[in-house]
Amino acid sequence: MAEIYTIRIHNRQQGTDYTVQVPSDRYILQAAENQTADLPFACRNGACTTCAVRVLSGQLDQHEAMGLSPDLREQGYALLCVSYPRSDLEVETQDEDEVYELQFGRYFGKGKVRFGLPLEDD
Ligand code: FES
Repeated sequence: MAEIYTIRIHNRQQGTDYTVQVPSDRYILQAAENQTADLPFACRNGACTTCAVRVLSGQLDQHEAMGLSPDLREQGYALLCVSYPRSDLEVETQDEDEVYELQFGRYFGKGKVRFGLPLEDD
């Protein structure tokens, strides 16, 4: 028998708040949408980080969130599309591309990876 948890979600972009009831065996994003929450998403399988939130309080299980590095999970980010609640939770949406840039921005943004340059001869 699944536990039912209360999840408070603040959509910072829209200035909206949702309080939804999510069983421990259901993904938070899908359950919240079924209760009329309007939240960002794209892939729905833990790969793209569009649905990322900051976890303000509470515990969740996101072992399927392959798109989120262990570092960022420890910093309190979560992918709602593949997260199961493990307690009551309070979360808020990220800034647009916040998690993506934290994971990849420093590599792609600072010229460490360069394409198309001729290789020097030895
Ligand atoms: S919607 Fe792509 S990671 Fe959740």
